[in-house]
Amino acid sequence: MRILVTGGTGFVGGAVVAQLLKDGFGPSLLLLVRARTSGDGLARVCAAMDRFRVAPVHRLTLTEANIVCGDLAQPVTFEDDPRMRRVTHVIHAGAIASFSAHPQLDAVNVSGTLALARAVAASPVLERFVHVGTAMACGDSLSGLVPESHELALADHQVVAYTASKAEAERRLRREWPGLPLVIARPSIVVGHTRLGCEPSGSIFWMFRMVQLLGAFTCSLDDRLDVVPVDFCADALIDLAFLPRLRHDLYHVSAGEGSARTIREIEAALARARGVAPLGERFRHIGEADIDRLTPALARELGRGNSRLMAKALRRYGAFAALDYIFDNRRLLGEGTPPPPPVTDYLGVCVRTSESTSVAEQMAWDFK
Ligand SMILES: NC(=O)c1ccc[n+]([C@@H]2O[C@H](COP(=O)([O-])OP(=O)(O)OC[C@H]3O[C@@H](n4cnc5c(N)ncnc54)[C@H](OP(=O)(O)O)[C@@H]3O)[C@@H](O)[C@H]2O)c1
Repeated sequence: MRILVTGGTGFVGGAVVAQLLKDGFGPSLLLLVRARTSGDGLARVCAAMDRFRVAPVHRLTLTEANIVCGDLAQPVTFEDDPRMRRVTHVIHAGAIASFSAHPQLDAVNVSGTLALARAVAASPVLERFVHVGTAMACGDSLSGLVPESHELALADHQVVAYTASKAEAERRLRREWPGLPLVIARPSIVVGHTRLGCEPSGSIFWMFRMVQLLGAFTCSLDDRLDVVPVDFCADALIDLAFLPRLRHDLYHVSAGEGSARTIREIEAALARARGVAPLGERFRHIGEADIDRLTPALARELGRGNSRLMAKALRRYGAFAALDYIFDNRRLLGEGTPPPPPVTDYLGVCVRTSESTSVAEQMAWDFK
């Protein structure tokens, strides 16, 4: 067995590698990492594994032989590596996951994904290619429970260029590589870790903190958020890579009807964990136009906050929250993956592990 993981230095891919190491798969791993040398690549992965608190006994099973120095934007760096021809399983979590307009979005998320498919399609022993997409690539024109469907929004209904690139990657993978043993996994919103809170990454958690401080957001208290912890996401991706037979070729990795929570419930859990009174009816449902007016004071309250960046983030994430989407996860649960814990169950760990990090610092996870 040879398992190729991309994105192992990141949040989702890092959680996958951490779990595979704990499960004893270290010697079978092949990790595509941006690095000049295998030694540098190994050091980068090890630093990520430290954030996931992987015990040295597991981490030390990784050596330079596990590293493929490669950049998805430059397929020449990995496509001719003979190890690609012996890959049995792929979990492709490497991508530019930024809401900002990044000049390499298409080169990495679309062309890089297709180049990776081309490289491993040449492996006669390839059993499964799990492509990590994003549930939000469904666009902004749906409502309520979003089904697990290959239909995805076209560019004019995408919320940001990043989701458009993820939708395009899925479409082209299916069109150009029909013989690939492809399974598409679409996580919803990944926040924190059930035991490590925000230690591996503060991604998106800072937004919860900011909304509470602001006491307002561009959605209502009764809108629901579909959030999953990264360890659940990693376990689900590993299930999808290794279950011998799957009923479908597309899955949401999401909270679904059973585990999604309202903004009201999330805010109350956050308040409990911080030992402050919940906002409850003091919460204000504001319009986008109010954001620019409110953020300078918020930035001052947060010390070194960048008011313009905060306003931009509030607008972007507010637009997602106001969609009130729940991503149907019955397919995944039907494969035997246990339901995810609701975000309200582990928010306390996220609060504790964020205590010494300011909101402005935590934002850097998503604005690299
Ligand atoms: N986090 C979420 O809430 C969420 C929700 C839905 C879907 N997803 C999907 O999950 C996947 C991973 O997201 P994430 O949150 O883990 O993002 P992340 O923390 O930013 O990690 C991205 C990973 O991709 C790697 N990468 C970026 N550009 C690359 C390139 N040119 N060549 C090779 N590797 C490259 C990064 O490597 P470096 O360390 O070298 O930058 C890093 O390991 C993405 O496909 C994303 O669409 C995430």
